[in-house]
Amino acid sequence: MILHRAIAIDGPAASGKSTLSRLLSQRLNLIMVNSGAMYRAVTWKVLQRGIDPNDREAVVQALREMELECGVADLVSTIKVDGIDPGDELRSESVNSHVSAVSAVPEVRECLVSLQRDYLKLGDVVMEGRDIGSVVFPETPFKIYMDADPSVREARREVVGEVDSVAARDRADSGRATAPLKIAEGACVLDTSGHTIESGVEAAIEILRGQGFVMPASA
Ligand code: CDP
Ligand code: CDP
Repeated sequence: MILHRAIAIDGPAASGKSTLSRLLSQRLNLIMVNSGAMYRAVTWKVLQRGIDPNDREAVVQALREMELECGVADLVSTIKVDGIDPGDELRSESVNSHVSAVSAVPEVRECLVSLQRDYLKLGDVVMEGRDIGSVVFPETPFKIYMDADPSVREARREVVGEVDSVAARDRADSGRATAPLKIAEGACVLDTSGHTIESGVEAAIEILRGQGFVMPASA
């Protein structure tokens, strides 16, 4: 049973998911949930403990031993691992390089999907990730799949000085057996290559209206 409304935003790295989700959250008064931060937090802890992120059994054991606390502050999801907020370390080069391996482990996905679904108990959410429309909330009618040319996406990461192999992550995320990145059934594709951030938000609002999302009067 769906308790509140969920907007699912999926797409490859640097397609503009976080930017759009943040702006939709502010404009439509929704809780913004960055599901990627949850996969990054587990990866961060695995690396901190010196565990090989490609050793599935060791990753599952580490997952069982860590305490994940998910919350909300100012309408934005938060995550702590064993009482610590990893902060900017979630976007470090080492987490960028290993997060796809850790997130391909079915036990990791099962655990995090359950925590992601729990957010719907708190209110209406806009959640961004790779499998939100296909696995986490397949029944929601409000689904957008964001995309942009690979060269545009690489350039976006370089502008902010982040060391990230976007193409390698996309290949791993799309090719894995469990919950691969794909266009979910019912999702509308929004290519942001030629969009400014503002025009991208307007296009997303139009898509959501078309999918039957009732906007608050202030939007
Ligand atoms: O911001 P960006 O799109 O670069 O990445 P992210 O959303 O922070 O996600 C980091 C990684 O977590 C992805 O490359 C996927 O491997 C994994 N992820 C996933 O498997 N499923 C999700 N729902 C979200 C992220
Ligand atoms: O969350 P995801 O990795 O999909 O992308 P993001 O972090 O929202 O966006 C990546 C970068 O692209 C950010 O620096 C945005 O400011 C920029 N961006 C853009 O230049 N034009 C857009 N239409 C959307 C995002």
